[in-house]
Amino acid sequence: MEHFEILDKVYWVGKVDWELRKFHGEEYSTFKGSTYNSYLIRDNKNILIDTVWAPFAKEFVRSLSNTIELEKIDCIVMNHGEIDHSGSLPELLNEIPDVPLYCTANAVKSLKGHYNRNWNFNIVKTGDRLSTGSRELIFIEAPMLHWPDSMFCYLTETNILFSNDAFGQHYASESLYNDQVPQNELWEECLKYYANILAPFSPLVKKKINEFVSMQLPVQMICPSHGVIWRQDPLQIVKQYGEWASSYKENRITIVYDTMWNATRRIAETIADGILAEDPDVKLKVFNAARADKTEIIAEIFRSKAVLVGSSTINKGILSAVGGLLEQIRGLSFKGKKAASFGSYGWSGEAQGIINRLLEASGFDLLPDGPKILWYPYNEDLEKCKLYGKEVASVCK
Ligand code: FEO
Repeated sequence: MEHFEILDKVYWVGKVDWELRKFHGEEYSTFKGSTYNSYLIRDNKNILIDTVWAPFAKEFVRSLSNTIELEKIDCIVMNHGEIDHSGSLPELLNEIPDVPLYCTANAVKSLKGHYNRNWNFNIVKTGDRLSTGSRELIFIEAPMLHWPDSMFCYLTETNILFSNDAFGQHYASESLYNDQVPQNELWEECLKYYANILAPFSPLVKKKINEFVSMQLPVQMICPSHGVIWRQDPLQIVKQYGEWASSYKENRITIVYDTMWNATRRIAETIADGILAEDPDVKLKVFNAARADKTEIIAEIFRSKAVLVGSSTINKGILSAVGGLLEQIRGLSFKGKKAASFGSYGWSGEAQGIINRLLEASGFDLLPDGPKILWYPYNEDLEKCKLYGKEVASVCK
Protein backbone atom coordinates (compact mmCIF):
# COMPACT_ATOMS: atom_id res chain seq x y z
CA MET A 1 0.00 0.00 0.00
CA GLU A 2 1.31 3.44 -0.86
CA HIS A 3 1.87 5.97 1.89
CA PHE A 4 -1.06 8.30 2.49
CA GLU A 5 -1.92 11.31 4.58
CA ILE A 6 -4.24 10.51 7.44
CA LEU A 7 -4.81 14.02 8.75
CA ASP A 8 -2.97 17.37 8.91
CA LYS A 9 0.39 16.15 7.63
CA VAL A 10 0.34 12.93 9.57
CA TYR A 11 1.12 10.05 7.20
CA TRP A 12 0.76 6.28 7.32
CA VAL A 13 4.12 4.88 6.19
CA GLY A 14 3.73 1.24 7.28
CA LYS A 15 3.40 -2.14 5.61
CA VAL A 16 0.35 -4.29 4.86
CA ASP A 17 1.35 -7.94 5.22
CA TRP A 18 -1.23 -9.92 3.28
CA GLU A 19 0.78 -13.13 3.58
CA LEU A 20 1.15 -13.45 7.35
CA ARG A 21 -0.57 -16.56 8.74
CA LYS A 22 1.23 -17.02 12.07
CA PHE A 23 2.38 -14.45 14.60
CA HIS A 24 4.37 -14.75 17.84
CA GLY A 25 6.05 -17.83 16.38
CA GLU A 26 3.27 -20.35 15.88
CA GLU A 27 1.11 -19.09 18.75
CA TYR A 28 -1.31 -16.77 16.99
CA SER A 29 -3.10 -17.50 13.71
CA THR A 30 -3.48 -14.53 11.38
CA PHE A 31 -5.77 -15.85 8.67
CA LYS A 32 -6.42 -12.33 7.44
CA GLY A 33 -2.80 -11.16 7.51
CA SER A 34 -1.77 -8.09 9.44
CA THR A 35 -0.31 -4.63 9.10
CA TYR A 36 2.65 -2.96 10.76
CA ASN A 37 1.63 0.66 11.06
CA SER A 38 4.33 3.27 11.11
CA TYR A 39 3.43 6.94 11.12
CA LEU A 40 5.26 10.08 10.04
CA ILE A 41 4.41 13.49 11.46
CA ARG A 42 5.59 16.26 9.16
CA ASP A 43 5.91 19.61 10.87
CA ASN A 44 8.80 21.91 11.72
CA LYS A 45 10.16 18.68 13.10
CA ASN A 46 9.59 15.43 11.24
CA ILE A 47 8.90 12.59 13.62
CA LEU A 48 8.62 8.91 12.75
CA ILE A 49 6.54 6.72 15.08
CA ASP A 50 7.54 3.03 15.07
CA THR A 51 8.86 1.00 12.13
CA VAL A 52 7.85 -2.35 10.61
CA TRP A 53 8.86 -6.00 10.95
CA ALA A 54 12.40 -6.93 9.93
CA PRO A 55 11.62 -8.92 6.74
CA PHE A 56 10.29 -5.70 5.25
CA ALA A 57 13.13 -3.47 6.50
CA LYS A 58 14.73 -2.71 3.14
CA GLU A 59 11.34 -2.13 1.52
CA PHE A 60 10.36 0.12 4.44
CA VAL A 61 13.47 2.28 4.28
CA ARG A 62 13.25 2.58 0.49
CA SER A 63 9.57 3.62 0.61
CA LEU A 64 10.21 6.02 3.46
CA SER A 65 13.03 7.66 1.52
CA ASN A 66 10.58 8.28 -1.33
CA THR A 67 8.26 10.10 1.07
CA ILE A 68 10.89 12.07 2.98
CA GLU A 69 14.64 12.53 2.69
CA LEU A 70 15.83 10.35 5.55
CA GLU A 71 18.18 13.07 6.80
CA LYS A 72 15.12 15.23 7.39
CA ILE A 73 13.74 12.85 10.01
CA ASP A 74 14.43 14.71 13.24
CA CYS A 75 13.62 11.91 15.64
CA ILE A 76 12.02 8.51 16.01
CA VAL A 77 9.50 7.57 18.67
CA MET A 78 9.49 3.87 19.52
CA ASN A 79 6.28 3.09 21.36
CA HIS A 80 7.33 -0.54 21.89
CA GLY A 81 10.43 -2.66 21.32
CA GLU A 82 8.88 -5.84 19.97
CA ILE A 83 10.35 -6.97 16.67
CA ASP A 84 7.25 -6.38 14.57
CA HIS A 85 7.63 -2.63 15.25
CA SER A 86 11.35 -2.22 15.83
CA GLY A 87 12.60 -4.71 13.23
CA SER A 88 13.49 -2.06 10.66
CA LEU A 89 15.40 0.16 13.08
CA PRO A 90 18.84 -1.33 12.32
CA GLU A 91 18.35 -0.80 8.58
CA LEU A 92 16.99 2.73 9.07
CA LEU A 93 19.60 3.76 11.62
CA ASN A 94 22.37 2.58 9.33
CA GLU A 95 21.26 5.52 7.18
CA ILE A 96 20.69 8.06 9.96
CA PRO A 97 22.74 6.70 12.88
CA ASP A 98 22.61 9.71 15.17
CA VAL A 99 18.91 10.46 15.05
CA PRO A 100 17.42 10.73 18.56
CA LEU A 101 15.22 7.82 19.53
CA TYR A 102 12.49 8.49 22.14
CA CYS A 103 11.16 5.57 24.17
CA THR A 104 10.54 4.36 27.71
CA ALA A 105 13.34 3.20 29.99
CA ASN A 106 12.09 -0.36 29.52
CA ALA A 107 12.22 0.04 25.74
CA VAL A 108 15.90 0.96 25.98
CA LYS A 109 16.35 -2.44 27.65
CA SER A 110 14.28 -4.36 25.08
CA LEU A 111 15.84 -2.57 22.09
CA LYS A 112 19.39 -3.01 23.39
CA GLY A 113 18.50 -6.61 24.26
CA HIS A 114 17.29 -7.35 20.75
CA TYR A 115 19.83 -5.44 18.70
CA ASN A 116 22.87 -4.94 20.96
CA ARG A 117 23.32 -1.39 19.65
CA ASN A 118 23.92 1.89 21.49
CA TRP A 119 21.61 4.17 19.60
CA ASN A 120 20.86 7.77 20.61
CA PHE A 121 18.26 6.81 23.23
CA ASN A 122 16.20 9.48 24.98
CA ILE A 123 14.05 8.15 27.82
CA VAL A 124 10.57 9.63 28.24
CA LYS A 125 7.91 9.23 30.93
CA THR A 126 4.19 9.86 31.16
CA GLY A 127 3.46 13.56 30.72
CA ASP A 128 6.71 14.40 28.94
CA ARG A 129 6.19 16.45 25.80
CA LEU A 130 8.05 16.75 22.53
CA SER A 131 7.40 19.71 20.26
CA THR A 132 6.82 19.01 16.59
CA GLY A 133 6.81 22.75 15.88
CA SER A 134 3.15 23.66 15.71
CA ARG A 135 2.01 20.74 17.87
CA GLU A 136 3.24 18.56 20.70
CA LEU A 137 3.52 14.86 21.28
CA ILE A 138 2.53 13.86 24.81
CA PHE A 139 3.94 10.54 26.01
CA ILE A 140 1.87 8.14 28.08
CA GLU A 141 3.61 5.04 29.41
CA ALA A 142 1.45 1.93 29.13
CA PRO A 143 3.42 -0.82 30.87
CA MET A 144 2.10 -4.33 30.21
CA LEU A 145 -0.16 -3.23 27.39
CA HIS A 146 1.32 -5.59 26.50
CA TRP A 147 5.04 -5.40 27.32
CA PRO A 148 6.79 -3.52 30.13
CA ASP A 149 8.16 -1.12 27.51
CA SER A 150 4.83 -0.21 25.86
CA MET A 151 3.84 3.41 25.46
CA PHE A 152 1.20 5.56 23.76
CA CYS A 153 1.73 9.04 22.44
CA TYR A 154 -0.81 11.73 21.69
CA LEU A 155 -0.53 14.51 19.11
CA THR A 156 -2.10 17.77 20.26
CA GLU A 157 -4.14 19.98 17.91
CA THR A 158 -4.68 17.06 15.53
CA ASN A 159 -5.88 14.99 18.48
CA ILE A 160 -4.50 11.62 17.42
CA LEU A 161 -3.69 8.89 19.90
CA PHE A 162 -0.94 6.55 18.68
CA SER A 163 -1.74 3.54 20.79
CA ASN A 164 0.74 0.98 19.47
CA ASP A 165 -0.53 -2.59 20.06
CA ALA A 166 -3.56 -1.52 22.09
CA PHE A 167 -6.79 -1.27 20.04
CA GLY A 168 -5.16 -3.15 17.15
CA GLN A 169 -6.08 -6.19 15.12
CA HIS A 170 -4.16 -8.60 12.93
CA TYR A 171 -6.14 -7.68 9.87
CA ALA A 172 -4.93 -6.76 6.40
CA SER A 173 -7.48 -4.88 4.33
CA GLU A 174 -7.64 -2.69 1.27
CA SER A 175 -8.63 0.25 3.43
CA LEU A 176 -7.01 1.18 6.71
CA TYR A 177 -10.01 3.01 8.13
CA ASN A 178 -12.43 1.38 10.53
CA ASP A 179 -15.50 2.67 8.69
CA GLN A 180 -14.43 1.16 5.36
CA VAL A 181 -14.06 -2.50 6.26
CA PRO A 182 -16.69 -5.20 6.96
CA GLN A 183 -17.66 -4.61 10.59
CA ASN A 184 -18.16 -8.28 11.44
CA GLU A 185 -14.63 -9.13 10.26
CA LEU A 186 -13.15 -6.17 12.06
CA TRP A 187 -14.77 -6.93 15.40
CA GLU A 188 -13.96 -10.65 15.19
CA GLU A 189 -10.32 -9.74 14.73
CA CYS A 190 -10.41 -7.15 17.53
CA LEU A 191 -11.85 -9.70 19.95
CA LYS A 192 -9.45 -12.44 18.90
CA TYR A 193 -6.56 -10.03 19.42
CA TYR A 194 -7.78 -8.91 22.84
CA ALA A 195 -8.46 -12.48 24.02
CA ASN A 196 -5.09 -13.82 22.91
CA ILE A 197 -2.80 -10.88 23.61
CA LEU A 198 -4.28 -8.40 26.07
CA ALA A 199 -6.57 -10.50 28.28
CA PRO A 200 -3.86 -11.29 30.88
CA PHE A 201 -3.44 -7.57 31.47
CA SER A 202 -7.13 -6.68 31.80
CA PRO A 203 -6.76 -4.94 35.20
CA LEU A 204 -4.04 -2.73 33.72
CA VAL A 205 -6.15 -2.10 30.60
CA LYS A 206 -8.95 -0.78 32.80
CA LYS A 207 -6.55 1.37 34.79
CA LYS A 208 -4.94 2.81 31.67
CA ILE A 209 -8.30 3.60 30.09
CA ASN A 210 -9.37 5.44 33.26
CA GLU A 211 -6.09 7.31 33.36
CA PHE A 212 -6.39 8.35 29.72
CA VAL A 213 -10.03 9.42 30.14
CA SER A 214 -9.05 11.50 33.18
CA MET A 215 -6.52 13.40 31.03
CA GLN A 216 -9.54 14.77 29.10
CA LEU A 217 -7.72 14.85 25.79
CA PRO A 218 -10.02 15.12 22.78
CA VAL A 219 -9.59 12.17 20.41
CA GLN A 220 -10.20 12.53 16.71
CA MET A 221 -8.44 9.33 15.70
CA ILE A 222 -6.78 6.33 17.29
CA CYS A 223 -3.87 4.99 15.29
CA PRO A 224 -2.78 1.54 16.50
CA SER A 225 0.25 -0.31 15.22
CA HIS A 226 -1.76 -3.15 13.68
CA GLY A 227 -4.89 -3.07 11.55
CA VAL A 228 -7.30 -0.25 10.96
CA ILE A 229 -7.17 3.35 12.09
CA TRP A 230 -10.17 4.28 14.22
CA ARG A 231 -11.45 7.49 12.66
CA GLN A 232 -15.22 6.97 12.89
CA ASP A 233 -16.28 7.10 16.53
CA PRO A 234 -12.73 6.25 17.67
CA LEU A 235 -13.71 5.85 21.31
CA GLN A 236 -15.92 2.87 20.47
CA ILE A 237 -12.89 0.58 20.68
CA VAL A 238 -11.87 2.13 24.03
CA LYS A 239 -15.37 1.47 25.37
CA GLN A 240 -15.25 -2.07 24.05
CA TYR A 241 -11.88 -2.65 25.73
CA GLY A 242 -13.47 -1.48 28.99
CA GLU A 243 -16.08 -4.24 28.61
CA TRP A 244 -13.59 -6.91 27.57
CA ALA A 245 -11.40 -6.02 30.53
CA SER A 246 -14.28 -6.62 32.99
CA SER A 247 -14.60 -10.43 33.33
CA TYR A 248 -16.22 -10.48 29.90
CA LYS A 249 -18.68 -13.22 28.98
CA GLU A 250 -21.59 -13.73 26.62
CA ASN A 251 -24.42 -16.27 26.75
CA ARG A 252 -22.09 -18.79 25.18
CA ILE A 253 -20.58 -22.18 26.08
CA THR A 254 -17.53 -23.77 24.50
CA ILE A 255 -16.80 -27.48 24.44
CA VAL A 256 -13.27 -28.51 23.55
CA TYR A 257 -11.81 -32.00 23.49
CA ASP A 258 -9.39 -34.38 21.86
CA THR A 259 -10.23 -37.98 21.17
CA MET A 260 -8.40 -41.19 20.26
CA TRP A 261 -11.20 -43.42 18.97
CA ASN A 262 -14.14 -41.01 18.95
CA ALA A 263 -15.55 -41.86 22.39
CA THR A 264 -14.66 -38.43 23.80
CA ARG A 265 -15.99 -36.78 20.64
CA ARG A 266 -19.29 -38.61 21.08
CA ILE A 267 -19.47 -37.52 24.71
CA ALA A 268 -18.73 -33.90 23.73
CA GLU A 269 -21.41 -33.83 21.06
CA THR A 270 -24.00 -35.45 23.30
CA ILE A 271 -23.31 -32.98 26.11
CA ALA A 272 -23.80 -30.24 23.48
CA ASP A 273 -27.19 -31.75 22.57
CA GLY A 274 -28.19 -31.66 26.23
CA ILE A 275 -27.12 -28.02 26.63
CA LEU A 276 -29.14 -26.94 23.59
CA ALA A 277 -32.16 -28.97 24.68
CA GLU A 278 -32.19 -27.09 27.97
CA ASP A 279 -31.28 -23.66 26.63
CA PRO A 280 -31.91 -23.22 22.88
CA ASP A 281 -30.78 -19.60 23.09
CA VAL A 282 -27.26 -20.29 24.27
CA LYS A 283 -24.50 -19.95 21.66
CA LEU A 284 -22.38 -23.07 21.58
CA LYS A 285 -19.36 -24.28 19.70
CA VAL A 286 -17.60 -27.65 19.82
CA PHE A 287 -13.92 -27.91 18.91
CA ASN A 288 -11.51 -30.78 18.49
CA ALA A 289 -8.39 -29.19 19.97
CA ALA A 290 -6.13 -31.21 17.70
CA ARG A 291 -7.85 -30.02 14.54
CA ALA A 292 -9.25 -26.57 15.20
CA ASP A 293 -7.24 -23.39 15.35
CA LYS A 294 -6.02 -22.67 18.90
CA THR A 295 -6.21 -18.89 18.57
CA GLU A 296 -9.85 -19.11 17.55
CA ILE A 297 -10.67 -21.62 20.30
CA ILE A 298 -9.19 -19.19 22.83
CA ALA A 299 -11.22 -16.31 21.41
CA GLU A 300 -14.35 -18.43 21.75
CA ILE A 301 -13.53 -19.38 25.35
CA PHE A 302 -12.91 -15.70 26.14
CA ARG A 303 -16.47 -14.94 25.01
CA SER A 304 -17.99 -17.87 26.88
CA LYS A 305 -19.51 -18.14 30.32
CA ALA A 306 -18.40 -21.78 30.59
CA VAL A 307 -15.97 -24.17 28.97
CA LEU A 308 -16.12 -27.96 29.09
CA VAL A 309 -12.84 -29.73 28.41
CA GLY A 310 -12.55 -33.40 27.51
CA SER A 311 -9.80 -35.88 26.80
CA SER A 312 -9.26 -39.58 26.57
CA THR A 313 -6.82 -40.89 29.14
CA ILE A 314 -3.53 -41.86 27.56
CA ASN A 315 -0.57 -43.21 29.52
CA LYS A 316 -2.14 -41.90 32.76
CA GLY A 317 -2.32 -38.43 31.24
CA ILE A 318 -4.25 -36.25 28.79
CA LEU A 319 -3.93 -35.87 25.05
CA SER A 320 -1.28 -33.34 24.10
CA ALA A 321 -3.54 -31.03 22.08
CA VAL A 322 -5.70 -30.50 25.17
CA GLY A 323 -2.60 -30.15 27.36
CA GLY A 324 -1.11 -27.51 25.05
CA LEU A 325 -4.35 -25.57 24.91
CA LEU A 326 -4.78 -25.60 28.68
CA GLU A 327 -1.22 -24.35 29.10
CA GLN A 328 -1.94 -21.49 26.73
CA ILE A 329 -5.15 -20.66 28.57
CA ARG A 330 -3.38 -20.70 31.94
CA GLY A 331 -1.38 -17.64 30.98
CA LEU A 332 -4.40 -15.66 29.82
CA SER A 333 -5.97 -15.24 33.29
CA PHE A 334 -9.59 -15.37 32.14
CA LYS A 335 -11.93 -14.30 34.93
CA GLY A 336 -15.46 -15.22 35.98
CA LYS A 337 -15.87 -18.37 33.90
CA LYS A 338 -17.13 -21.80 34.84
CA ALA A 339 -15.48 -24.99 33.65
CA ALA A 340 -15.66 -28.75 33.89
CA SER A 341 -13.98 -31.86 32.55
CA PHE A 342 -15.22 -35.00 30.83
CA GLY A 343 -13.64 -37.89 29.03
CA SER A 344 -13.31 -41.54 28.21
CA TYR A 345 -10.87 -44.18 29.39
CA GLY A 346 -10.08 -47.87 29.04
CA TRP A 347 -8.55 -48.79 32.38
CA SER A 348 -6.91 -46.13 34.57
CA GLY A 349 -8.85 -42.88 33.77
CA GLU A 350 -6.64 -40.09 35.11
CA ALA A 351 -7.53 -37.51 32.45
CA GLN A 352 -10.38 -35.79 34.24
CA GLY A 353 -8.49 -35.22 37.46
CA ILE A 354 -5.61 -33.70 35.49
CA ILE A 355 -7.93 -31.42 33.51
CA ASN A 356 -9.69 -30.32 36.69
CA ARG A 357 -6.41 -29.37 38.34
CA LEU A 358 -5.31 -27.40 35.28
CA LEU A 359 -8.66 -25.61 35.02
CA GLU A 360 -8.64 -24.73 38.70
CA ALA A 361 -5.06 -23.46 38.49
CA SER A 362 -6.16 -21.22 35.59
CA GLY A 363 -8.82 -19.56 37.73
CA PHE A 364 -11.98 -21.24 36.43
CA ASP A 365 -14.83 -22.01 38.84
CA LEU A 366 -15.28 -25.75 38.61
CA LEU A 367 -18.69 -27.21 37.89
CA PRO A 368 -19.49 -30.78 38.95
CA ASP A 369 -17.48 -33.27 36.91
CA GLY A 370 -18.80 -34.25 33.53
CA PRO A 371 -19.23 -37.84 32.34
CA LYS A 372 -16.30 -40.22 32.70
CA ILE A 373 -17.10 -43.07 30.35
CA LEU A 374 -15.41 -46.47 30.22
CA TRP A 375 -14.55 -47.43 26.61
CA TYR A 376 -17.35 -46.00 24.49
CA PRO A 377 -20.66 -44.32 25.36
CA TYR A 378 -23.80 -46.34 24.55
CA ASN A 379 -27.44 -46.07 25.67
CA GLU A 380 -27.42 -45.08 29.36
CA ASP A 381 -24.04 -43.43 28.96
CA LEU A 382 -25.40 -41.18 26.24
CA GLU A 383 -28.42 -40.41 28.39
CA LYS A 384 -26.02 -39.49 31.19
CA CYS A 385 -24.09 -37.16 28.83
CA LYS A 386 -27.26 -35.46 27.67
CA LEU A 387 -28.51 -35.05 31.21
CA TYR A 388 -25.18 -33.56 32.20
CA GLY A 389 -25.47 -31.06 29.33
CA LYS A 390 -28.89 -30.04 30.62
CA GLU A 391 -27.51 -29.57 34.11
CA VAL A 392 -24.66 -27.40 32.81
CA ALA A 393 -27.08 -25.25 30.81
CA SER A 394 -29.31 -24.91 33.84
CA VAL A 395 -26.49 -23.98 36.25
CA CYS A 396 -25.05 -21.48 33.76
CA LYS A 397 -28.34 -19.76 32.90
FE1 FEO B 1 2.76 -5.67 17.74
FE2 FEO B 1 3.80 -6.28 20.86
O1 FEO B 1 4.00 -6.04 19.04
